[in-house]
Amino acid sequence: MPKIQLTPNTTLYPVPVVLITCGAGDETNVFSLNRIASCNAEPPMISISVRPSRASHDLIQQWGEFVVNIPWPEMEMVSDFVGSTTAGETDKWQETGLTRQPATVVSPPLLADCPVNIECQVRHTWQLPSHSLFIAEVVALHADTAVLSEREEVDFALARGGLVYRAGVVRERPVENFRPDELRQKVNARRDGG
Ligand SMILES: Cc1cc2nc3c(=O)[nH]c(=O)nc-3n(C[C@H](O)[C@H](O)[C@H](O)COP(=O)(O)O)c2cc1C
Repeated sequence: MPKIQLTPNTTLYPVPVVLITCGAGDETNVFSLNRIASCNAEPPMISISVRPSRASHDLIQQWGEFVVNIPWPEMEMVSDFVGSTTAGETDKWQETGLTRQPATVVSPPLLADCPVNIECQVRHTWQLPSHSLFIAEVVALHADTAVLSEREEVDFALARGGLVYRAGVVRERPVENFRPDELRQKVNARRDGG
């Protein structure tokens, strides 16, 4: 097949999309993020890229901590919602009904609705032209047994695929038909082994 030359971009689709929780106390937030990578093994480290214009950016910088929450595939709509609304204009907790739960090491909360929660502490920050790259150490990891392999590794193939976005849909799209009740039913069904 012949190849054609495209405008340079970070083409790596499909990409996993995670929900990042940040902040502490009365000021916590949640947003969607796909610019995430495993970047070191010992100690385990993860990098995330966040635009400085995001409300969450300052919370991550202020607290030096965040949690990576890996959603169920059924949570695409909530991922669109928290990825296209901003704290200050929208009370994302009120609107989504997502459930916060205290973390074991860091200050930001875990999302009880997600099967995997990765507690992270920022070790380095690198200002790139459009994003801040936060390089963080994984200090605690929580996983629902439904997504664990026999070797106790997180394996989303066991849960009929994690949440991945194909090319063309990783963008902030208006969410008009968001139904928190539907989300709750789907997440409960997952929890109950449905
Ligand atoms: C699928 C998806 C992936 C996203 N990935 C990123 C990302 O990697 N980095 C980033 O800074 N914003 C990303 N965003 C945008 C933020 O989630 C969005 O701007 C959000 O409204 C920020 O919320 P906040 O202002 O309350 O922090 C993504 C949005 C969506 C829907």
